[in-house]
Amino acid sequence: MNYIKPRGTEDIYEDINFIKWIENKLINCAKLYGFSEIRTPSFENKNLYVLSIGKNTDIISKEMFLLKTKSKNEYVLKPEGTASIVRFLIENKLYNKKPLPLKFFYLQNMYRYERPQKGRMRQFYQFGVEIIGNNSSIIDIEAIIFADHILKVLNIKKYLICINSLGTENDRNKYIKALTEALKKISKCDDCNKRIKHNPLRVLDCKIDKFDNNKLPKMYDFLSKSEKDNLEFIIQKLIKFNVKVKLDHKLVRGLDYYTNIVFEIKSTETSNENFTLIGGGRYNNLIKILGGADIPAFGFAIGIERIRIILDSYKKNIIDNDKVDVYFITLSNIAKLTALKLAKKLRNNNISVLINFDDINIKKQFKITEKIMPKNIIIIGDKEVTEKKISIKNTSTKKIITLKFEDILTYFRKDK
Ligand code: HAM
Repeated sequence: MNYIKPRGTEDIYEDINFIKWIENKLINCAKLYGFSEIRTPSFENKNLYVLSIGKNTDIISKEMFLLKTKSKNEYVLKPEGTASIVRFLIENKLYNKKPLPLKFFYLQNMYRYERPQKGRMRQFYQFGVEIIGNNSSIIDIEAIIFADHILKVLNIKKYLICINSLGTENDRNKYIKALTEALKKISKCDDCNKRIKHNPLRVLDCKIDKFDNNKLPKMYDFLSKSEKDNLEFIIQKLIKFNVKVKLDHKLVRGLDYYTNIVFEIKSTETSNENFTLIGGGRYNNLIKILGGADIPAFGFAIGIERIRIILDSYKKNIIDNDKVDVYFITLSNIAKLTALKLAKKLRNNNISVLINFDDINIKKQFKITEKIMPKNIIIIGDKEVTEKKISIKNTSTKKIITLKFEDILTYFRKDK
């Protein structure tokens, strides 16, 4: 057979527990902030995305996976989650039925036809959140606190939170005019020469030109007073909450639906300066543009592959933590049944247990534990059953402790 996996995709097998560890952290964290899970289809109507992200963005003009049906409908594999959630929201008019803000989280595959490289896949997994129906700056603050909390929970230590404001449409139009004039006087790469006509803001984060901030006008200088005050307020409050943010005048984001506050969190653990872990911001017009109510929204997303790369050096510890708590080596039928009884008690208390039910000798059972690597091993035979006592071996400290059956649960509870 000559088939290999498509470029920019991955078969996940060895890392599955590591990924589940990451996912569980994200899901538990989302629940702490009152988000509920949503799963939308893997493909959506093409125009939903063209209209949301903007036809002149890289995602729409170069990176869509297009699907054509026999009846000539055009769909795309979802390049991101926001538009799909907005579609769901409008289709079900949820804003008329439920108290606002609505708070969704999702963990789903997304697809972009990008040039694959480290942390840049054609099929990638994204965790995202959307908060719909509230325009308060405190929502922006809470969302950025949440993004920071996620990274702390994941034990990611070196990162930079950048923030900017794209202002109102009026502010943005004035800025785009000034920026375009300034850019005309500077030499640019071929892509930027095109972008200047259709999407001048994107020139600011060109990876080739890397324009000097001081040579171009800044969005900040074109913000109305209330937008400036809002940006300053958010930065000050975040700093008070111990979330360090930096105003980045060149931060514009690669999707056209953003308005007002935008932010990105870049990892500083890797030498690759373009390694953005989290990106998001306000999109106050999108729901209306797509035919829904005129309600504001804020959201962000984080790429799971990029978290995996950052956490790779801690992976062993994380996987070790995921090992089964107790492994029973059993020496007779009555021992197997007794192990089952003890396991019930432990499992009911969140302690994971594996029991060897094979009729094989103790040596072979020990051999199996070398592969499974449980945190603790218990050997149980007729003698242990009669005496109602067992010996527990902690596989990392190598210490052995003998306990009465009735004390086992207390012992493992302390260990947890
Ligand atoms: P985005 O900046 O396009 O935003 O993607 C968010 C995150 O997804 C990135 O920071 C990165 O971690 C990950 N990511 C993006 N593309 C790839 C790729 N090709 N391979 C691996 N990881 C990738 C959005 O998608 C917006 N929908 C975020 C949002 C939600 N804004 C408001 N609500």
